[in-house]
Amino acid sequence: MSKTISYEKKENIGLLTMNRPEKMNALSEELTNELEELLTELEKDDELRVLVITGAGDKAFVAGADIQELVDRDGIAGRKVSRFRQELFSRIENLPVPVIAAVNGYALGGGLELALACNIRICSDKAQFGAPEVKLGIIPGDGGTQRLPRLVGLGRAMEMILTGDFIDAHEAYRIGLANRVVPFENLMDETMKLAQKIASRPPLAVKYAKDAVNRSVEGSTGSGYDLESYLHALSCTTEDKKEGVTAFLEKRKGEFKGK
Ligand code: COA
Repeated sequence: MSKTISYEKKENIGLLTMNRPEKMNALSEELTNELEELLTELEKDDELRVLVITGAGDKAFVAGADIQELVDRDGIAGRKVSRFRQELFSRIENLPVPVIAAVNGYALGGGLELALACNIRICSDKAQFGAPEVKLGIIPGDGGTQRLPRLVGLGRAMEMILTGDFIDAHEAYRIGLANRVVPFENLMDETMKLAQKIASRPPLAVKYAKDAVNRSVEGSTGSGYDLESYLHALSCTTEDKKEGVTAFLEKRKGEFKGK
């Protein structure tokens, strides 16, 4: 029986709640171990269609790593914890079913990183997001430096990670971190509606689509440049390119044929 997380399944939708409200649902070692055990079960659940993750209480989704446990974390332990949590969050990102974060309140540090590992984020108007690690003299270790820039762009991610400042729900929506903002009291209803809609779609198509979309952000920058260069070269061989360049130089509107 888990002490720090709770899980229930309504029909084919799972609801996982981080359950340490007195500590703002901070990610303790105990909590992440219990999360790992539960994930192992969920990965085997063929009836599950969508997983929703939220935080207990009305203040926090997850307020980050348990700062008490940071006191004695040396370099070796830091590497171990970081690798463990990176892998744990990647398992969430790649769970066979879509994972929706219902961000009720603070999503800070590891809590932001957990929300980022979820496939979709719905947030309440009380939610706040931030990467305050730098203020503690550390850097994010649960995948945040890689996932945040992919979602919101390099400049915005850099600002959040270098300042540690929080942003509110509306700013999170504006920059693409949150899919939508809903009133706090409607958060679970709205999230469940979305979960039910996805659960009503053909499960295999949903699974394959999720895998394909996740794959879109993989691959090295080098191979991206390589592909870009090939496609640039290909575009240089088209009739439309000849027409476009000529039309510009002749100060007229180009007429394109798609050839
Ligand atoms: N780890 C451990 N305990 C935490 C915690 C964390 N990440 N975040 C909050 N808590 C604890 C507080 O110590 C406090 O415990 P106490 O009542 O035993 O003293 C309790 O949760 C309530 O937090 P409190 O700070 O009193 O609430 P608040 O409403 O004033 O502020 C936050 C809320 C989330 C803004 C603030 O707690 C905070 O900044 N937390 C740390 C966030 C952070 O840096 N996370 C990244 C860690 S790498």
